[in-house]
Amino acid sequence: MKGLILSGGHGTRLRPITHTSSKQLVPVANKPILFYGIEALKEAGITDIGIIVGDTKEEIKKAVGDGSRWEVKITYIEQPKPLGLAHAVLTAQDFIKDSPFIMYLGDNVIKGGVKEFVLKFERERPTAQILLVPVLNPQQFGVAELEDNKVVRLVEKPKNPKSNLVLAGVYLFDSTIFKAARAIDYSVRGELEITDAIQWLIDQNLEVKSHLIQGWWKDTGKLEDLLEANRMMCDEFETKILGQVDENSKIDFKVIVEKGAQVTNSILRGPLIIGENTKISNSYVGPFTAISENCEIRESEIEHSIVLKGSKILNIHYRISDSLIGKHVEILGNQRRIKNHQFMVGDNSKIELV
Ligand code: G1P
Repeated sequence: MKGLILSGGHGTRLRPITHTSSKQLVPVANKPILFYGIEALKEAGITDIGIIVGDTKEEIKKAVGDGSRWEVKITYIEQPKPLGLAHAVLTAQDFIKDSPFIMYLGDNVIKGGVKEFVLKFERERPTAQILLVPVLNPQQFGVAELEDNKVVRLVEKPKNPKSNLVLAGVYLFDSTIFKAARAIDYSVRGELEITDAIQWLIDQNLEVKSHLIQGWWKDTGKLEDLLEANRMMCDEFETKILGQVDENSKIDFKVIVEKGAQVTNSILRGPLIIGENTKISNSYVGPFTAISENCEIRESEIEHSIVLKGSKILNIHYRISDSLIGKHVEILGNQRRIKNHQFMVGDNSKIELV
């Protein structure tokens, strides 16, 4: 079996971060989202992996390399334009040839892996198999309708969803999918939808099986979802202190301090991770926070946030929370701790300084 990971697209909902960086490389618990996908495939025994790349190809190639780090072989496949998931499948035909394959959307994070899902496909060998997950907002995804456990209909982002089961971005196919992708038309959003291609298989009476996700899944396209994924992954941590923590600091719960990091006179209340060579001094870092490498947090408070590499947060005495802070950002407060507010506020406004 081969693997196909999709890592193109623009990541518009994560701008401005994705103006300068690929959405699949934004870290969750200090690891690029894309790496979770590669690891999930490797864990399921898939080592011949194609990655579909677009505008951000150079950055992706630089971060992932040839795959030897995971003992897998990576082949890069260029999709000239992001014209949909079924279009991506067609772009990869020379790489896939007639092998069965797993397609994995590179901005999805799954806890619990895909091993079971792959084993089921290998045992039963349907034409296609889809991974489903119940959600509260099905209209934002591809929705599956089942009858007696059989997939009878798939609709991409329906206004009135008939079920709460949606397509988590992991699919298994045999090579019939190429025929299906050629048979369908572009959707209203101008894409060749994989959802329509699978519906085409169903319409030909070919077998499409489903598998309900066991662990947890998130499409990390938006800030709230990214922070939630970060929360789930930080929660898996076990305390590991490789850097230096001085005796005036206090460490609570699951905390990772990577090598070369220095923590001075600070409170770290996990689950959280402090990246390599990052300095934390006179500060509070709270739960579900991932601070990348080479950052500095001084005289500040932060929790439930992601801070990317090389950033500085200095003298911010109000707590920063629910934030995604890009690479090499500087957030600088007043060293003299003078807390002065200056307002020009209209009638009937309400201001809460929380
Ligand atoms: C795509 C698929 C959709 C699926 C979703 C999962 O949506 O078209 O069926 O539920 O991924 O992340 P998109 O992210 O392109 O809107």
